[in-house]
Amino acid sequence: MPVSQTQHTQHSPGAQAFDVRRLSPHIGGEVTGLDLAQPLAPETFAALRKAWLEHQVLVFRDQKLSDDDQVRFARYFGTPIGSRSMQQANPHVMLISNIRENGQVIGQLPDGELQFHADSVFLEKPLMGAILHSVEVPASGGNTMFASTYAAYDALSREDKRRLSGLTAVNAFDYATQVRTGRFDTSKGPHRTHPVIRTHPETGRKGIFVNRLMTQHIVGLPLAESDALLPRLWELCERPAHIYEHVWRVGDVLMWDNRCTQHARTDFPEGERRLLRRVGIEGDKPY
Ligand code: SIN
Repeated sequence: MPVSQTQHTQHSPGAQAFDVRRLSPHIGGEVTGLDLAQPLAPETFAALRKAWLEHQVLVFRDQKLSDDDQVRFARYFGTPIGSRSMQQANPHVMLISNIRENGQVIGQLPDGELQFHADSVFLEKPLMGAILHSVEVPASGGNTMFASTYAAYDALSREDKRRLSGLTAVNAFDYATQVRTGRFDTSKGPHRTHPVIRTHPETGRKGIFVNRLMTQHIVGLPLAESDALLPRLWELCERPAHIYEHVWRVGDVLMWDNRCTQHARTDFPEGERRLLRRVGIEGDKPY
C-alpha cells in the first residue's frame, strides 16, 4: 500500500498545523496534530475540508469529544442532522449501540454485520456526510469498511459508463431484515429514486450511487436485467482494492463523505459492548 504523508502548514496566527497520512490507495486519510475539542481557525478548517474532499474519509485518533463538541465540529462542514435516538440530550447526536438497558437497546443499528450502503439514500436529500466518535468498542470485529465509489466508477468500462449515464434507481429503507427477502413494496416505507451515477457537487467527480443494502431496482429496465446489473455494480464498489477498513479504538473520530463512499460493518460478538456517537450533516439532492 502506498503510504504518503501531506503536511498542512498554517500561516495565520492561531491556525493549527496538521498532517494527513494516506490509509489505503483510494480512500482514507489519518489526521494527526489536531485536538477536535478545540475550535479550529478558518485556515485550518479550509485545509481540513480540502483533505476530506481528497481522502473521502478522515480518521482522528485519541480524541475526547462531548456531544456538544462533536456537534460543533460537524457545524464547520454543514448543518447537523437530528437524531432518531431517544437517549441523547443533544438532539443532533444519534447513538449506534448494541447496549441494552432495562431490556431496551439504547441506540440504532445495534447488532451484527451491516451490508454496504450510503446513509439515508431513501430520502430526497441523503446525508452529505457523518461523524462517528467511538466510546466503547468490542475486542474484535465491528469494524467499519468504507468503499470509494469514485474508484468503482473509474473501474467501469467506457461502454458501461455510457450505458449507466442517465439511469436512475429506487432506494428504500429496507434494512429491518438487512437481507433481501423479496421485492420491496414501495407502499411500505420511505424510498427515493436517485441517479445510478452521481456527480459530486464539490469535486465534480463521478461515483456509483447504488448499494447492496438499499437499492431495489433500476428504473425502466426489465427486472431480470436490473437484477443482473446491480450486483455487478455492488461488487465493483466492494472490491477490496477500493476499501479502507477501520478497526476502532476508543477515542476515534471518523468522518466520511456520504456522496462518494459506501460503508458496511463486520460482525462482532453478541456479548461485547459497542457504542458510537453519530452526528449526520445535511446533504443535497443527488444529480
Ligand atoms: C452505520 O452504518 O452508520 C453504522 C456504522 C457502524 O456501526 O460501524
